[in-house]
Amino acid sequence: MSLVPLRVLLDHAAENDYGVAAFNVNNMEQIQAIMEAADETDAPVIIQASRGARAYSQDAYLRHLMLAAVELYPHIPVCMHQDHGNSVATCLSAIENGFTSVMMDGSLKEDGKTPADYQYNARVTAEVVRLAHLRGVSVEGELGCLGSLATGHGEKEDGHGAEGKLSKEQLLTDPDEAEQFVAETGVDALAVAIGTSHGAYKFDRPPTGEVLAMDRIEEIHRRLPNCHLVMHGSSSVPQELQDVINRYGGRIKPTWGVPVEEIQRGIRHGVRKINVDTDNRLAITGAIRKVFAEHPEKFDPRDYLKPARAAMKEVCRQRMIAFGQAGHASQLRQAVV
Ligand code: 13P
Repeated sequence: MSLVPLRVLLDHAAENDYGVAAFNVNNMEQIQAIMEAADETDAPVIIQASRGARAYSQDAYLRHLMLAAVELYPHIPVCMHQDHGNSVATCLSAIENGFTSVMMDGSLKEDGKTPADYQYNARVTAEVVRLAHLRGVSVEGELGCLGSLATGHGEKEDGHGAEGKLSKEQLLTDPDEAEQFVAETGVDALAVAIGTSHGAYKFDRPPTGEVLAMDRIEEIHRRLPNCHLVMHGSSSVPQELQDVINRYGGRIKPTWGVPVEEIQRGIRHGVRKINVDTDNRLAITGAIRKVFAEHPEKFDPRDYLKPARAAMKEVCRQRMIAFGQAGHASQLRQAVV
């Protein structure tokens, strides 16, 4: 089976009331971890690469690693997605490199840090939709800027993220504008701003509705029941993963992420794609630190990359089960072949 467009995955998820994790990757071990977890749980998957990830891994390596994933697991539907595309050119180059889905993040200008106005966002996103759909590629748009409702600041992910203090209006997707944006652009999925941010430091205590505005999702879903919603910054930052890092010499400050139960609530209200990167980064780092601390004599990269890959696989497996995508790969495959 070849890579499938995002729309195919999310339509199936909506019809069957589940969500699909979109895991970020930069290297072979991360792709292997996701595919092993998908194979074990029979889950369709979204693998995504940011601009920073594409620059780090290089498009040609990434393209061939994804082909390998499809060759090794022909029974698993996989979508390859550009995370936070900043321009038409970035999205087109992703499509040329075999991505089956692109995000045009027009909530920020092309520099990836200056908040853009609605008109710019709608114009550039509609242009990407036009070009991508001609090639059978899906498009995710974003309305509202990611960032903390408590501090007004966003966290950069691979260099991409709003700079300066954001107002509450910028940090929360406006339901009226969402209706207009989806109608004007024709996006396949819409990322909404509800107070989440990228990285490990999202909340300084377990989040309440004041800082994690799940009610916004419910309102947007009421207005746009047929639109697939996307939650960014959705790592849960589990305490046990923080503990492993800190036990072996790391310094993660006390922090809280998005509880899995809140994501499940989102899934009941139209959330179909859930972006997770940080949890996997934490798992990998903890596993590597443990080997370094317990076996300082070791120097074969496989001695620490194998446990790192296994730790990431476990996070992916847990999310695939929690989001409900587990058990749907074979069913979806039959529907699309
Ligand atoms: P986390 O940093 O919460 O994993 O979010 C990743 C993300 O949203 C990628 O776009």
